Amino acid sequence: MASTEKVFFTYNDIHNTIKKLSEQIQESGYEPDLIVAIGTGGFIPARIIKTYIKKPILTVGLKLYDENNQPKDTPEKIQWIDEVEKKLKNKKILLVDEVDDSRTTLEYCLKELLRAEPAEIAVAVLHDKEKEKRGSIPAEIKRYFYGAKLPDKWICYPWDAIDIDKHGV
Ligand code: G4P
Ligand code: MG
Repeated sequence: MASTEKVFFTYNDIHNTIKKLSEQIQESGYEPDLIVAIGTGGFIPARIIKTYIKKPILTVGLKLYDENNQPKDTPEKIQWIDEVEKKLKNKKILLVDEVDDSRTTLEYCLKELLRAEPAEIAVAVLHDKEKEKRGSIPAEIKRYFYGAKLPDKWICYPWDAIDIDKHGV
């Protein structure tokens, strides 16, 4: 059960964390051919990463929580990459999401993308929650980058704010 405590981040917080994350990726020597964003949470982080790592972005849409905010057993594919093999085969991919929470979505997405036989997939998440994970990162994945590790609290992202002026500065 996730904690009901909340932590708030502003757009500037997010941008600064992604700058740090991008620098770590560059310093590691990993040079992706493509960025793949897991939407919707990964869309804005991926676009900010592209400011530092100038590669094309492809997107996949996955949804774990239903309309009543209950997690499902398996993520639902909202959208996938057309001609996925043609686009990903032998390519180096940077897979981007906002949060590594239970790892259910990440594991599912990585396994699906690996079927397209990319050269390598590296994972980049803005936030990794320190908690027991339900999913696992497949053994083929050798690089995992995170912007910050956080305790298991509910993260309030600025893009979810109904009133951004009340979200904090
Ligand atoms: P993981 O594999 O990356 O760990 O993710 P997991 O399956 O555990 O859960 C993914 C869903 O849970 C995503 O939403 C993600 O946004 C949401 N989530 C998990 N923890 C938090 C949090 O602390 N704050 C917020 N705002 N969201 C969180 P989704 O319903 O799958 O899709 P979408 O919202 O990205 O469209
Ligand atoms: Mg969400």
